[in-house]
Amino acid sequence: MANWSPNSWTTKPITQDVVYEDAQGVKDALDKLHKLPPLVTTQEINNLKNSLRNVALGKAFVLQGGDCAELFDYCNQDMIEAKVKLLLQMSLILIWGRKMNPVSLKQFNILTFYSGANKPVIRIARIAGQFAKPRSSPTEVIGGVEMPSFRGDNINGFAADAESRRPDPSRLVSAYFHSAATLNYLRASLSSGLADLHSPLDWGLGHVITPAIREQYAQIVKAVKDALKFMKTVGIDKDRGVETADIYTSHEGLSLEYEQSLTRLLRHPAHASTETTGEMGSGFYATSGHFIWIGDRTRQLDGAHVEFFRGIANPIGIKVGPSMQGDELVRLLDVVNPAKEIGKVTLISRYGAKKIANFLPGHIAAVQASGHIPVWQCDPMHGNTQATPSGVKTRHFTDILEELRQALEIHRAAGSFLGGMHLELTGEAVTECVGGAAGLTEDGLGERYTTFCDPRLNEKQALELAFLVAGFYRQESEE
Ligand code: PEP
Ligand code: CO
Repeated sequence: MANWSPNSWTTKPITQDVVYEDAQGVKDALDKLHKLPPLVTTQEINNLKNSLRNVALGKAFVLQGGDCAELFDYCNQDMIEAKVKLLLQMSLILIWGRKMNPVSLKQFNILTFYSGANKPVIRIARIAGQFAKPRSSPTEVIGGVEMPSFRGDNINGFAADAESRRPDPSRLVSAYFHSAATLNYLRASLSSGLADLHSPLDWGLGHVITPAIREQYAQIVKAVKDALKFMKTVGIDKDRGVETADIYTSHEGLSLEYEQSLTRLLRHPAHASTETTGEMGSGFYATSGHFIWIGDRTRQLDGAHVEFFRGIANPIGIKVGPSMQGDELVRLLDVVNPAKEIGKVTLISRYGAKKIANFLPGHIAAVQASGHIPVWQCDPMHGNTQATPSGVKTRHFTDILEELRQALEIHRAAGSFLGGMHLELTGEAVTECVGGAAGLTEDGLGERYTTFCDPRLNEKQALELAFLVAGFYRQESEE
């Protein structure tokens, strides 16, 4: 890669920069991070890249979700398990949506879901590193006092006092260890059978859902069980894949100091094709997570974030909002993916339900004309944030669903594929988004509003959304 190194971004203009007073502290933190082992391996990263290639080609769907701002405190057994279960349940529901015929469910879906190859639903969590947050203003006024805004647990503290809000470089190292502990438990629980679909009813769903959803879910579970029985009969249920399901990790690659320190020149996995890896035998991998993305506020063509991202071998995301121009989008793709690798880039569109029809068709047309084949993912959260009359940040379930519905239709009309959805959600019973079958109202938001950044779907709302989106796909295959 010409004129690129893990720190070449430092020569470019940067937005959302963090100014540390303690230069020696930053150096010590980065030196420490540089010596620590990668959090994820090239093999895993390339597996995800290959799966995303299938998504780009319309052969699979990607479900990405998790907190807006992950906190170090979320690194505990209950919260990790709740999130993992929710993503697994949602992906099971989405698989049901993509193939409605029970025969194909038995003979195709279940096998591919568990076989570790050609998975129809790829799961990526916003977890084990989703700490850093871009902010609209570097400072805020709390109780009449102006102080730095909260930038995420890896940068400063949430407590509203100037001392806690001072950027602390040791938090970068702490971010690594919290990511490592979260990832360790994620891997351990998956390999110990948390995702064991021989007993999907044990996924702790019963108490969360409404009777109508419970019944639909029970039907899906029955289909899964029948398929597993079938697999047992023909002797193919001993595969490791039957017991586990992969979940990849992701976060916004906002803190470039952190990302740079965990970027390593590593050998490509032996099986990787030259198409996905280029000519050389090694590449620079961001090893902080499997998938990282550039936010809507940091995607300037000549900026530091794009410079960093153009050099890494990982699959990457780019948020695409209403201010993106069609030609700008194509130039961005040319810069970060000059070889036009299929599925290397995931375009995460986030316009809002009222704006998507004005922007998505033009963006799809520009990308189609360029010859790039990205994954198109819809983030129906970030364009639909609004404040209640009393100033509480929320999102309406109907807007979220509407943006997804339109995304699906617009892609279909353009001969393109909606490859996935990108959600802010939590396995907890929070009250942050309005609507859904349980009828959460603006008045009810105060009950359990615990987000440190944007409002998330709670477990019920997330499952319901998965059912409704699965329903769109079923409708599509019936037409
Ligand atoms: C986010 O995904 O939390 C986020 C900040 O999104 P965007 O960059 O699209 O605003
Ligand atoms: Co957010």
